[in-house]
Amino acid sequence: MTGSHAGPPHEPAAAARERLGPEHYDYFAGGAGEETALRENEEAFGRLALLPRVLRGGTVRDTRVSVLGRDWPAPLFVSPTAFHRLAHPDGERATARAAAATGIPLVTGVAATTAVADVAAAAREADPEAVVWFQLYPQPEHEVSAELVLRAERAGCSALVVTVDSPVFGTRTRDLRNGFHDLPPGLAAENMRDLPGAAPGATRDIAMCPAGWDDLARLRELTDLPLVLKGVLHPEDARIAVERGVDALIVSNHGGRQLDAAAASVEALPAVAEAVAGRVPVLMDGGVRRGGDIAVALALGARAVGVGRPVLWALATGGEDGVREALTALREDFDQVLALCGGHRPRDLTADQVTPRGLPYR
Ligand code: FNR
Repeated sequence: MTGSHAGPPHEPAAAARERLGPEHYDYFAGGAGEETALRENEEAFGRLALLPRVLRGGTVRDTRVSVLGRDWPAPLFVSPTAFHRLAHPDGERATARAAAATGIPLVTGVAATTAVADVAAAAREADPEAVVWFQLYPQPEHEVSAELVLRAERAGCSALVVTVDSPVFGTRTRDLRNGFHDLPPGLAAENMRDLPGAAPGATRDIAMCPAGWDDLARLRELTDLPLVLKGVLHPEDARIAVERGVDALIVSNHGGRQLDAAAASVEALPAVAEAVAGRVPVLMDGGVRRGGDIAVALALGARAVGVGRPVLWALATGGEDGVREALTALREDFDQVLALCGGHRPRDLTADQVTPRGLPYR
């Protein structure tokens, strides 16, 4: 990486581990089951190499991409991750200010320890034009989902991300081992406060439910915000989603925290991109740690990629400054990789430039 704080990607996790209580570190770091999907997200990138193009001329690069009517400065966004105040006292506010300061869009989630209105306000302190999206798990009670969507709209979020890979909670092996199931006193999922069916001032639990396409249609009716489906791996689901009017997709296995046997995100990406055939933007997350990973994902059909844990590690070790530096380093690393691949714009990266590592046996 090119940034001054850059280093091998395992270092940020190790530094964060020293700062965090072991059960909190494990909550962020861990995955479901035997953590196969978690490991594979990164290892699948490691099995892919780039074939740079040469003598393509040009000195100016433009890393911007257009997503749902907005220009993003780089093909990069912050994926929704829960409980930022476990990582740092400034929590989601620090993440939001840092993302906005670098122009990187932020997806804040229903499981944030800061209410969406406050997250969006923090982002706007750094950049009045900051892109903030809101992520929701469909809730079994429609009025609860409806109230959450209304809050996201009022906060000025510009898209609704619906996570669909969690009909039930994944088995988080480390959390079970550590007995970690509750936030410490003083921290709560603030978006879940004062919702229908809860006592005034109390928070409700976030429920997981096996929603169907009809539930998605109900969400569609609730809001004019663009709808982004997160957690799609099967190309047929991608096709159905596009036919049902979804505005963008995020190919994701939830950072390996749900189905342990799930394919790595980057492995599922090409078939989803093919099924979508350019009709809506395909985003992806899972295992993105360096500029080369971003380039591979773009070449395989992603418009932009999200990062989850890298942001949590940076937040834990450096707060707002740490997140700003990590996002800047990733962005600069991608720009350099693009140049070294002979590209001038993200769309110059094409699938023929990705090849599996290892020699074939003869
Ligand atoms: C997540 N992720 C997640 N996704 C989501 O849709 N809603 C959520 O509340 C959360 N919460 C969450 C907490 C933690 C601690 C992690 C690590 C992840 C998944 C997240 O959005 C994203 O898909 C992955 O984190 C991407 O993988 P990497 O970048 O962490 O490898």
